[in-house]
Amino acid sequence: MASFKNRIKKLSSDKSPLILANDYESGISDIESRTVKNIKTLSPYLCAIKFNFHLLLPLGQKQITKINRLAHDHHLQTIADIKLNDIGNTNNVTAETLWSLGFDSVIVNPMMGPGNLEKLIAHAHKNDNGVISLCHMSSPEAQLTYELQVQIKSKKTILYHLFLEWATSLGADGIIVGATFPDIVSFCKKKSKGKVSIYSPGIGTQGGDIQKTIQAGSDYLIVGRTILNSRNPKETAKSLFDLAKH
Ligand code: XMP
Repeated sequence: MASFKNRIKKLSSDKSPLILANDYESGISDIESRTVKNIKTLSPYLCAIKFNFHLLLPLGQKQITKINRLAHDHHLQTIADIKLNDIGNTNNVTAETLWSLGFDSVIVNPMMGPGNLEKLIAHAHKNDNGVISLCHMSSPEAQLTYELQVQIKSKKTILYHLFLEWATSLGADGIIVGATFPDIVSFCKKKSKGKVSIYSPGIGTQGGDIQKTIQAGSDYLIVGRTILNSRNPKETAKSLFDLAKH
């Protein structure tokens, strides 16, 4: 089987660089049927679908496995957005469960350290799955943490530069950089020389602009509420798809 990185790249070039963040607000009781509908109606405009705790906590193993199968039948890769960040053993147990549920990839937090990140990437790649590592997030508060000055031995750097360096040198399949910071997307693209794919959430509702984000060098655009909360999600997905393709 091809690697996650190649599977999603092919779907992106054959179809679309858009990823649906299937993350509903609380109080929605029919998440499963809405998700099934989203996969069936929106898949022509997407390369992947991302699930956060919004769906992972309320649904059971059977339902999640069924959803992952349906997504694959509709030529979508699936991403578990759990920002995994733990000791090696716990990371492995979690990753094994995600793979057994049918997920193709996981979003992780590099605060776990480069040794743990390297082991998690090796674990994922053994199963042809992928690891996407946080680099800089989309919310305004990201500046307070991801842009902190840090020092390792005598070398001074900025936290997100370090996260970028780890992801690139350890062979992560992608990094997350918010669409709300196009200059940082651009910096990461240049610095990593295209070795790591850039995934950008924060389009629309959070203020990120799809075309500026693509111009800055992002490879995949993650969109949630702009599609989910629109009156006609299919039309909205299609119009974002048209913007992304032109
Ligand atoms: P929107 O704003 O489009 O957000 O509804 C979609 C989903 O994406 C997640 N999100 C992020 N995940 N880094 C991440 O790893 C980020 O910077 C980020 N911003 C948004 C979040 O789960 C949201 O539901």
